Amino acid sequence: MQLDIALGLEDASMNFHLIDRDKVKVKLPEAALNRVKEAAEDKLTHVILPAEKALHIAFLGEAGNDPYTLEAHRKAGHEALSQIRHNKSVTIQIFDHMNDADAVGAFIEGLLLSDYHFEVLKSEPKGSDATVIRVKSSVFSAKALDEMVQLTYAVHWARDLVNLPLSHLTAEGFARAVATAGDRNGFSVEVFTKQKIESLKMGGLLAVNRGSIDPPTFTIAEWKPEKAVNKKPVVLVGKGVVYDTGGISLKPTANSMDFMKSDMAGAAMMAAVLDACARLKLPIHTMALIPATDNRPDGNAIVPGDVITMYDGTTVEVKNTDAEGRLILADALSYAKKFEPSLVIDAATLTGAAVRAIGTYGCCVMGTADDDIFEELNEAGYETYERNVRFPLWPEYEEELKSDVADMSNLGKGEGGQVSAAMFLKHFTDYPWMHIDIAGPSFMHSKSSYRGKGGTGTGVRLLVRFMKKHFDL
Ligand code: BES
Ligand code: ZN
Ligand code: ZN
Repeated sequence: MQLDIALGLEDASMNFHLIDRDKVKVKLPEAALNRVKEAAEDKLTHVILPAEKALHIAFLGEAGNDPYTLEAHRKAGHEALSQIRHNKSVTIQIFDHMNDADAVGAFIEGLLLSDYHFEVLKSEPKGSDATVIRVKSSVFSAKALDEMVQLTYAVHWARDLVNLPLSHLTAEGFARAVATAGDRNGFSVEVFTKQKIESLKMGGLLAVNRGSIDPPTFTIAEWKPEKAVNKKPVVLVGKGVVYDTGGISLKPTANSMDFMKSDMAGAAMMAAVLDACARLKLPIHTMALIPATDNRPDGNAIVPGDVITMYDGTTVEVKNTDAEGRLILADALSYAKKFEPSLVIDAATLTGAAVRAIGTYGCCVMGTADDDIFEELNEAGYETYERNVRFPLWPEYEEELKSDVADMSNLGKGEGGQVSAAMFLKHFTDYPWMHIDIAGPSFMHSKSSYRGKGGTGTGVRLLVRFMKKHFDL
């Protein structure tokens, strides 16, 4: 079986599409065949063979399907793409002698995920190299390849959203981007304006928005296929702080504010997961709720010590205006109750504490869902190499959130800050719930293999894998 993918400019940073597999014909030259034999004798798992206009990659030997081996294949896919650019090759041929769909799949995934350039704001975009990948494998199916391409589109879209600065992506801009994706890929989108948000009394979202010159939005996206396997929806909630200055509790500029355009990575992740569900036509009724605003100081901005009333009526003393994510998420989590969800998952660049706990290598997760659901997330994490570590919601963390003047404070102690933040959110849930703090892996300050530099689109592959596992698809 042969499968071809063409890498080429489709639109902006989405660089590939499937092409007719009979259009390209390249055979493995004699010299290359000898190299393959040598590599097999050396027990290499794969060998990359640059030829005049092509790059041949042969998969050989015994595959290991542990997460670390598969991740090595993804990284090798990334390296192969770099070589293609370097050699100006036009074709990559992948020969799967290993007969291992997972191994060759991971390699192709690394290749596809690497073919991303954020150039929409450059006056002279370099574009992508028009490259054709040909896969020869008896086990890796055309369907698997197509799914991988669709999923990669969703990941690249999440990266685009994260990489766009506030000047080009306000809360309203974000909502419009989701609506456009909905029109294109067949999911429905409703956007609440400031007026509607005021009439609903979403006090958390409105409080954070008070210092802003732009109105907030609350976006509801829904993928409801006819033959859904679930009766009650899975609701995804994403933090959409399109820029976080910290508000009156201003962040220092260097190292903490300069990349805060990425504080909507949770929103981008959840929008992209919904987009992926629609693209892949997964038979799962799924919704995404996205509260969005920027957080900045102004004459009208909330100040530390202010007490606000949330959507569900809880009063909150805002001790630090930089702990704004939990305020907008809380309103969305309360609003989610209305849909009687079987499971709610939220994702947020919520705390620096999550980054200090495990760095950029994974996410901190917490919540009230059953252990076996967390185990499914854990497995999906290793399979996609978007790993996560669960932290306990011990009652002591709740103590930290007591306020003298209001029902709760938005600030816990500094230590274990990712847990006190999750504890704050828990107050607004009454359903099985998982919280994913993506502050670490959502944005890379230097190049990180196929994740690239800047927005990574982290969590999209994780949750799509999780949903398939959770619903036995
Ligand atoms: N957006 C930040 C968290 C963040 C930190 C994201 C680093 C990405 C990388 C969040 O709104 C924040 O400022 N959190 C504070 C909370 C604190 C004031 C309780 C933090 O973690 O310092
Ligand atoms: Zn903040
Ligand atoms: Zn923030």
